Amino acid sequence: MDMGHEPDSAMNIRFDGKVAVVTGGAIGIGAATARKFCKLGASVAILDRDAEAALATVHALVNEGHTASFQMCDVAAESDVRRAFDEVMQRYGALNVLVSNAGIQRYGDVVGTSPEIWDETFNVHVKGCIHATKFAIQVPG
Ligand SMILES: NC(=O)c1ccc[n+]([C@@H]2O[C@H](COP(=O)([O-])OP(=O)(O)OC[C@H]3O[C@@H](n4cnc5c(N)ncnc54)[C@H](O)[C@@H]3O)[C@@H](O)[C@H]2O)c1
Repeated sequence: MDMGHEPDSAMNIRFDGKVAVVTGGAIGIGAATARKFCKLGASVAILDRDAEAALATVHALVNEGHTASFQMCDVAAESDVRRAFDEVMQRYGALNVLVSNAGIQRYGDVVGTSPEIWDETFNVHVKGCIHATKFAIQVPG
């Protein structure tokens, strides 16, 4: 069947000269996403609350010849996100891609999950995306 595009080539669009922010890019899917954008030519800013892991990922990317940086940020805290995007703007002068990936896993059912866990999950996953999007769209592309 002709789908009108080739998935392999779509996964390898170049991002030379572009700037990508990856929240939660210290480890896991976010770190893999940061590396992929670097390999496709982008400069990458990792926003994460785990400084040790994020710096290890950034150092590895820089040692591989890529342009990457770390901004400390709890995506649930609007003031943190504002400051982090200000730093991205000062460093790179532009932003072209936002990957809102930061997240937490808290397991439980409706009955057994505490209000605190619901709030934490909502604050990171929902408000975190809102905060990042709010400031990302104000940075010139
Ligand atoms: N791994 C899976 O199977 C799976 C499935 C569905 C959805 N997801 C989602 O994909 C995303 C990445 O998953 P993963 O498995 O790589 O997770 P992970 O736990 O390996 O990594 C999450 C990253 O987000 C960061 N983070 C967490 N809370 C943060 C906050 N408040 N502010 C800033 N950074 C924060 C952590 O420090 C970490 O670097 C998450 O949002 C997760 O919910 C994952």
